[in-house]
Amino acid sequence: MRKNVVAFVLITIAVLAFAVHNVWILISLLFVDGSEDAISRAELPAPKSGAISERPQLIPKIIHQTYINESLPEHWKGPQKSCIDLHPDYEYKLWTDKKAREFIAAEYPWFLETFDGYPYPIQRADAIRYFVLHHFGGIYIDLDDGCNRSLDPLLAYPAWVRRTTPTGISNDAMGAVPRHPFFLKTIDSLPEYNRRWILPYITVMASTGPLFLSIIWRHYNNANPVGAERVRILFPAEYNHHSWSFFTHHLGNSWHNNDVRLIFWMAKHWLMVTILGFVIGFSLLACIYTVFIRPRQQPGSPKLRAAYSRAPFYRRISQKDIELDDRHEV
Ligand SMILES: *[C@@H]1O[C@H](CO)[C@@H](O)[C@H](O)[C@H]1NC(C)=O
Repeated sequence: MRKNVVAFVLITIAVLAFAVHNVWILISLLFVDGSEDAISRAELPAPKSGAISERPQLIPKIIHQTYINESLPEHWKGPQKSCIDLHPDYEYKLWTDKKAREFIAAEYPWFLETFDGYPYPIQRADAIRYFVLHHFGGIYIDLDDGCNRSLDPLLAYPAWVRRTTPTGISNDAMGAVPRHPFFLKTIDSLPEYNRRWILPYITVMASTGPLFLSIIWRHYNNANPVGAERVRILFPAEYNHHSWSFFTHHLGNSWHNNDVRLIFWMAKHWLMVTILGFVIGFSLLACIYTVFIRPRQQPGSPKLRAAYSRAPFYRRISQKDIELDDRHEV
């Protein structure tokens, strides 16, 4: 084999390995469904069962929610009331923008600069929920989720989050004891993940939202393969849709933008998108090989040789070749 073919193959393998290494956690999200950490329906007492009071209470009885200010829109007052009414013995905390900023400034001053610098308000709404869970513990619930039954049985797990489709976990309802190592890792990682991507939706998802939390969850699980510190997973059937589910879902997210449709379409057709990506990638490699590499093996038309000498990826090799050619001609 010619030297430049070997170089081409090696570079291709290196690029592919680098790409796979970088997205490995993302790829693994497609295959890991969290079922090994599931809170199974069989272990949860029925809504009015006496068995509920026999379970340990690890998580403090606090419900956290977030909104811009105290004046909630009408359509969210119903869900909010359903959670407050079912939990008369819980403390209720509504984190307004003002209270959230004061809390970060007082308790986590190292994060204030990142917090203030987020370009989208929803990023602050995402971040504050991880901090209050780390600081106070309790249960965070999105305002568009109402409560269908008492959350008491979920107080028995040191930390839990909700599984979401098509992949990963969500941050719309979560519970934890104060200073749980998973939420410690989460708040610790926020500054590092504060990057901007092309679409606002991806920026929000990957810097503070469910995609960010899912990636942290994968890293956390890799570092804690067994033991009591695992994060338990609430599956959709326990979450919604049944008489014994914990929550009821109301209106969709309030901040969705135009790019959401594209992302949801890609998520729905992820297999096709992945295959298409590979087809385009390998077609490009094939083109590069055909135009720039193969003509050197069977010295062909001057046109192809000229194209090869302009090859952007292999400039050093081609310049060396041209130099040798010149010397032969002298
Ligand atoms: C609360 O925020 C909403 C939405 O931005 C705004 O319309 C409303 O005037 C605010 N209410 C108060 C009391 O500041």
